[in-house]
Amino acid sequence: MKKTMRIALLGLGTVGFGVYEFVRTRQDMELACALSLVVPEGVTCPIAKNIDEILRDESIDTVVEVIGGLHPAYEFVKGALSAGKNVVTANKLLIAAHYRELVTLAAEKGVALRCTAAAGGGIPWLTSLERTAAQEPVIRISGIMNGTTNFILDTMHRTGGSFADALLEAQRLGYAEANPADDLNGADIRRKLVISSNIAYGCVLDEAEVATEGIEHIKGTDIAVFKRMNRVCKLIAASRKLENGVAAYIEPALVPPAMPESAIPQNYNLISLTGEHIGKQSFYGQGAGRYPTAYNVLQDCVDISRGVTAFYTDRLNEAHVDNSSIKRQYYIRTDGMDKWLQSHVDKILDCGIITDEVSVTEIHAWAKERRQSDPGCFFASLR
Ligand code: HSE
Repeated sequence: MKKTMRIALLGLGTVGFGVYEFVRTRQDMELACALSLVVPEGVTCPIAKNIDEILRDESIDTVVEVIGGLHPAYEFVKGALSAGKNVVTANKLLIAAHYRELVTLAAEKGVALRCTAAAGGGIPWLTSLERTAAQEPVIRISGIMNGTTNFILDTMHRTGGSFADALLEAQRLGYAEANPADDLNGADIRRKLVISSNIAYGCVLDEAEVATEGIEHIKGTDIAVFKRMNRVCKLIAASRKLENGVAAYIEPALVPPAMPESAIPQNYNLISLTGEHIGKQSFYGQGAGRYPTAYNVLQDCVDISRGVTAFYTDRLNEAHVDNSSIKRQYYIRTDGMDKWLQSHVDKILDCGIITDEVSVTEIHAWAKERRQSDPGCFFASLR
């Protein structure tokens, strides 16, 4: 008879409570205990006093970490792997920051480390990427990988609603990070891109090298311009395998109606991979929220109970980011001209300009510099 999986659940917040509810419906899984600063009403499983109690309990085979944040999640996950327990986590911050160390530790201990809910919410994205990369050279990844920003942009486009109101609603619906700045400034989507790219290309990227522009500077007046251009603004993550290294960047993009990304509503994500022989494959679903995220946590537990004993890849090659070969036109709104802009103007609009083709490296460096005099300047690529 198949062994019942004994789970310790770290965290009983938005996602954690969803996991708690799902596990309670299953015959093949048992909640040995939960560890949480706040225990919601109705939780009836044993509550652990501390992590050591869990690490010492040999009857617990799997630790589910949905606390989020770096500490104490890092110490808890490391402790669980070191104690020979499988770990399932939704924590993209943790996995992106300590990728090599945690993947190596799991392999040394011969236990599973799974984080499907860390990228794409409820979409079977990382598991599909794992299957593809095991057989097919993945050469590119791109798409919408943050539910909160998609919800905000979609609301602003559809209803003309304000940025602040849309953000409040995204928080109320449980889409946003504990610190929503991570959604808005692109840090959350960058972590998802790093984890996805690492699995896709068998490398280990340094988050800090990924060019990252979020949506915190967008205004209603920009959206009005994009509507006149018949484009939709989406926050896009993209990476590409290069001969030497990887191109990887996050930026708002003005998408034409012919591109499927333009139609992605609310908290949904659309993530695509391109394989050398198979071309493009896309994955669509809710990218944030209690049940979609808890669903993928459970799927990881099911995979482990069916025999998965490792991370998604064992390839950990060092690679650096180089975005200098990726070139496109950009929309820029800033409070005046400068030498660089002057030399790259293609078209002047009412409240912005369109540049000629410039590299991702150049535009991100220009914006960083420009923000010293115009902190609210905004740019988006033309697709
Ligand atoms: N804050 C994240 C998002 C949650 O909005 O996509 C899911 O990773």
